[in-house]
Amino acid sequence: MRLVAAVSFAVVSVAAQEPGGAPEKVDFTRQVAPLLVSRCIECHGPKEQKGDLRLDAKQYTFAADAEEFWCVVPGKPDDSELVIRVALPQDDDDFMPQKGEALSKDEVALLTRWVQEGADWPAAGDEWIAAELAAQVLPKITFELPPLDAGQREAIAAARTKLAEKGAVVQVVAADTEALDVNLSLLRDKITDADVAALVPLAPVLVWLNVSRTALTDAGAAELAKLTELRRLNVANTALSDAGFARFDKLAQLEYLNAYGTGLGDGSLPALAAMPKLAKVYAWQSKVTAGGVKAIRDHFAKVEVDLGDYVEQRLAAAQREIDERERRGAPVNDKCPVSGEPIDRTKTVEHDGRVVAFCCDKCKAKFEADPAAFADKLPPAPGAEAAAKPINDKCPVSGEAVDPAQTVVHDGRVVAFCCGKCKAKFEADPAKFADRLPVKK
Ligand code: HEC
Repeated sequence: MRLVAAVSFAVVSVAAQEPGGAPEKVDFTRQVAPLLVSRCIECHGPKEQKGDLRLDAKQYTFAADAEEFWCVVPGKPDDSELVIRVALPQDDDDFMPQKGEALSKDEVALLTRWVQEGADWPAAGDEWIAAELAAQVLPKITFELPPLDAGQREAIAAARTKLAEKGAVVQVVAADTEALDVNLSLLRDKITDADVAALVPLAPVLVWLNVSRTALTDAGAAELAKLTELRRLNVANTALSDAGFARFDKLAQLEYLNAYGTGLGDGSLPALAAMPKLAKVYAWQSKVTAGGVKAIRDHFAKVEVDLGDYVEQRLAAAQREIDERERRGAPVNDKCPVSGEPIDRTKTVEHDGRVVAFCCDKCKAKFEADPAAFADKLPPAPGAEAAAKPINDKCPVSGEAVDPAQTVVHDGRVVAFCCGKCKAKFEADPAKFADRLPVKK
């Protein structure tokens, strides 16, 4: 298995390599998934599905029974609602995201390139999103905050105004409390240590803070440490290291710390574990090791450190990734589309995002000169391309001639019907008509 996988890797990388070194392919898990989580999934995820759209797992975004509604058409950014909407002018009614600032040019370009390159969505991407969403869930808390005097109220109001002008998201946590939730992560590196210092007047009411992906450094951590009412702090993907985390021992109310992708190391764990209320530390892709976690688990049972990737999970994900690449690297055909002879697996080209194999170099060259001429000799592509050609010319329900406009995708193949009624009948119970379809090759 391993050996076969290694060989397919080689095939893929040779096929993908362009002379002059094209840019590396977009990595969904590392580059696209974080963008979806931070900007889209709030409205298009497990909690809400605005516009009937879910972007938190592949099975929803590419719903097998609703291909005509996919907002991502692999290989076709111009036909992909997801790409179109983020690139609209911000005052357009259809503009996405419907909240916060527009995606940056780079982010739009990234999504475009991802779709262009075939919109890969590996299992590891689903897992990353699920872990990230799980980490955001907190038990319901009631806040006991110190009483405010008039001077503090004024300072809080002024600080809120400044933050809002800067584009930060500031909101009360619930209707019946003054407790505030501040999210600076959308402003990315526009947020520096100085902005964190500007939060200090909010300290008596600031309970939730998200400064993930900002330009926060260990120096800013000294200011963060003054926010002593914080219950929940997200510093994921910042440059914080152990020197910064060492300051957090002042955060006596802190219950949840998201240190994903930071320099948090094993050395900080004993101090964190000693914090009176801290219950959960999310430390995936930090410098924390399983050994370090085990050491504090033995001493401080109350803190749960979530590394997100235990060894077995990692291996399983890697194996799935290998399987997926293997599947992608394998040719889609076993007969040469030019000659009809058995293929030689070393003679391949990438066509329409799939690997096509030939019996010899001559056939390969013929195909490359005019792929369209041989397209119908290839198995239908999963996805939009397949929509072109039904596999049957008689309606499997009535036996009448088909209307090519009345089709459904069944079992990876396009099936046509004589009319909408027959189509509906088929969709209600495909198994009943399956034996009237051409045998699968
Ligand atoms: C604050 C909520 C909110 C956020 C955040 C948000 N959307 Fe939406 N989205 C909506 C609503 C409401 C609709 C349905 C109304 C409409 O079609 O404009 C929608 C519809 C869509 C549709 C059309 C779905 C269809 O097939 O009809 C797409 C595509 C989409 N959003 C993409 C995105 C992307 C990509 C992001 C992140 C960059 C995002 N949205 C962030 C609220 C949101």
